Amino acid sequence: MKRIQLDITKAAQFLSEGAVKAYEPKVKAAQEALENGTCPGNDFLGWLHLPSSITPQFLDEVQAVANTLREKCEVIVVAGIGGSYLGARAIIEALGNSFAWLVGDKANPTIVFAGNNIGEDYLFELSEYLKDKRFGVINISKSGTTTETALAFRLLKKQCEEQRGKSEAKDVIVAITDANRGAARAAADKEGYKTFVIPDNVGGRFSVLTPVGLLPIACAGFDIKALVNGAADMEKATAPNVPFEENIAAQYAAVRNALYTEQGKKIEIMVNYQPKLHFIAEWWKQLYGESEGKEHKGIFPAACDFTTDLHSMGQWIQEGERSIFETVISVEQPAKKLLFPSDDENLDGLNFLAGKRVDEVNKMAELGTLLAHVDGGVPNIRVVVPELNEYYIGQLIYFFEIGCGISGNVLGVNPFNQPGVEAYKKNMFALLDKPGYEAESKAIKERLK
Ligand code: PA5
Repeated sequence: MKRIQLDITKAAQFLSEGAVKAYEPKVKAAQEALENGTCPGNDFLGWLHLPSSITPQFLDEVQAVANTLREKCEVIVVAGIGGSYLGARAIIEALGNSFAWLVGDKANPTIVFAGNNIGEDYLFELSEYLKDKRFGVINISKSGTTTETALAFRLLKKQCEEQRGKSEAKDVIVAITDANRGAARAAADKEGYKTFVIPDNVGGRFSVLTPVGLLPIACAGFDIKALVNGAADMEKATAPNVPFEENIAAQYAAVRNALYTEQGKKIEIMVNYQPKLHFIAEWWKQLYGESEGKEHKGIFPAACDFTTDLHSMGQWIQEGERSIFETVISVEQPAKKLLFPSDDENLDGLNFLAGKRVDEVNKMAELGTLLAHVDGGVPNIRVVVPELNEYYIGQLIYFFEIGCGISGNVLGVNPFNQPGVEAYKKNMFALLDKPGYEAESKAIKERLK
């Protein structure tokens, strides 16, 4: 099996000589602090050795529940937000058919997502779509109290019970939540749903290799054993004893911190050339944004889909403020083969491409853009993924997780908390007159007058 590769040469050329290597001691110290549990947020390190500690028996248990849902449901709604949804969606979309919901796949249930917004139209249209469907629900919330998810779940539970009857609904609703706390746990225990526990020491955005990600991914028909194997192999490949020159996570953490502090590169754009990877970038944005953006520090994680966004954001990237760098996920081999046809009339003038794979054109766009952006002053980091399958996606996930843990520690923040996320919730509850928020309610309504 191959391994994901990292190429930082076109980023290092923007830095003073030896600048990346100069980070080696800091990166090493950060990795040791993670390993020894001496870093800030050390009660949230359960993800660190998660891949290598998942047992085949546990994966069989997850698979068995997935099989039941697959058998009983034509649609499975995954309700969750942030870390309780992005990982599953990212992997399902990266591995699945781009037109999954249109192709009438009889072998796999359709997976849809809810509980990640409060759009009334979204929820109304979802409920309309589900009306004639045998659907089930995976309700995912670590705290068990997140408004977006709880709101969607209440609606979905009611509809599922109305359509299937309470007793049958019970068999197609699964809760993934805390072992003891929260409304999701209370409801699951009372109704007798099958449940999985999100370990206390694994934070939401690091939880994709717990049932939070594994169950929806298995429901979608993907191989969770291969996914975990890939992650476990990357865990070994990025272990603290692996020399800096061979440790791609250590190098990634070093180069992005060097670009940030030495060159003032405050924005990292995660770029893909495969539309299927859009949600991998969304997952990455949350992982790095919520982990590093604190104490008025941190690289802003952005994302672009190329070549699509070269026609919208390309100008800014080429010639806008030079505060950005790019990290490109480059997929070596597409799963499918499509040759560009010859045309007798050649009206579009594209016969020079006849007989080539579409991916060859994509690759030349990628290389051409790389050079253009580097010439325009945009450092480039390249993450090369051999192909989009469960094993390599597993590697990619762990690579970004460990890279984030190291990088946040080098930056000097606690990468495992998210105190800033509470501010909007407090205001929203006060505005909605939630019991317990009476004091804030009056003051906040006054401010909006
Ligand atoms: O990474 C995190 O901790 C957050 O993004 C959470 O996953 C998100 O807020 C959802 O929280 P919960 O799972 O408690 O509903």
